[in-house]
Amino acid sequence: MNNLSLLPKHIAIIMDGNGRWAEERGKSRAEGHAQGVNTLRSTLKLCREFGIDYLTAYAFSTENWKRPQAEVEALMSLLLEYLKIETETLYQEKVQLRVIGNTALLPEPIQQALHTSIKRLAIAEHKQVLTLALSYGGRDEIVRATKAISRDILASKLTPDEITEDLFTSYLDNADIPDPDLLIRTAGELRLSNFLLWQLSYAELYATDVYWPDFSRDELQKALTNYQGRIRKFGNIQKNT
Ligand code: FPP
Repeated sequence: MNNLSLLPKHIAIIMDGNGRWAEERGKSRAEGHAQGVNTLRSTLKLCREFGIDYLTAYAFSTENWKRPQAEVEALMSLLLEYLKIETETLYQEKVQLRVIGNTALLPEPIQQALHTSIKRLAIAEHKQVLTLALSYGGRDEIVRATKAISRDILASKLTPDEITEDLFTSYLDNADIPDPDLLIRTAGELRLSNFLLWQLSYAELYATDVYWPDFSRDELQKALTNYQGRIRKFGNIQKNT
C-alpha cells in the first residue's frame, strides 16, 4: 500500500470458502462459518485502522435458504450470538450497524435482535458503518424497489417521468451510503452471486483464492495495493484520483 488517499471508502465482501476451509480440516461446515465470523470481526477492525468507512458483508443470500436446514440454523445462531456478543463492542468502537435484504423472512428472534442492535448502534457520530446483507439478493432488492415505486405511482406521489437513476437508488435498501469502490471475493470464484447488482456497477473487482476464514491483514493489504493500481475511469477517459 502506498498512497492512503487512494484507498476505497467502501468495501463489499463476498465471504466465500468457509465450507471448504472446514472440510479440509475435518471440521463441520458450522465451524467454518464460526471462523468466518472471526474473520469478519478482524476485517472490520482492519478497515477501521485503514480509514475505510464502509464495509458491506454478504452474510446470507436469498439462495442460502436452500441449504440444509442444519446449516441454515447454524448460520442463524451464529448471527444471533454475534449480535448479542458484539453490539456493545461495536458501540464502544462507534460502528453503526445496518442491514440490507428481505429481513421479514428471518426468524422472529433474529429480527428482534437486529432491531435491538441497530437501535443501539444508530450512532450519529459514528466512525464506520457495517452493513450485513441478510436474506439478501440483488434482484430481490431491485424487485422490492420497483414494487415500492409502483405503489407510489399508483398513490399519485410520483409520475413515471420522475424516475431517474438517483430516484431509483433512493428506493434501495441502503440508499444513503456511497456505492462500494471495491468488491473482494474469496475462495477463487469469479461471480457476483446476486450481490449488490445495482451498486457494484462501477466497483473494482478483486478475487483471491484464499478461503474467507484465512483472509488476514496481509490479504487485505494485497487487495488494497491491487486496488491502488487500478485507474478508475467511470466510463470517462481521465484518471480518477
Ligand atoms: C460462503 O461460504 C459463506 C456463507 C454462505 C456465509 C457467510 C457467513 C459468515 C462468514 C458468517 C455469518 C456472519 C455473521 C455476522 C454471523 P460457503 O459455505 O459457500 O463455503 P464453500 O463454498 O467453501 O462451501
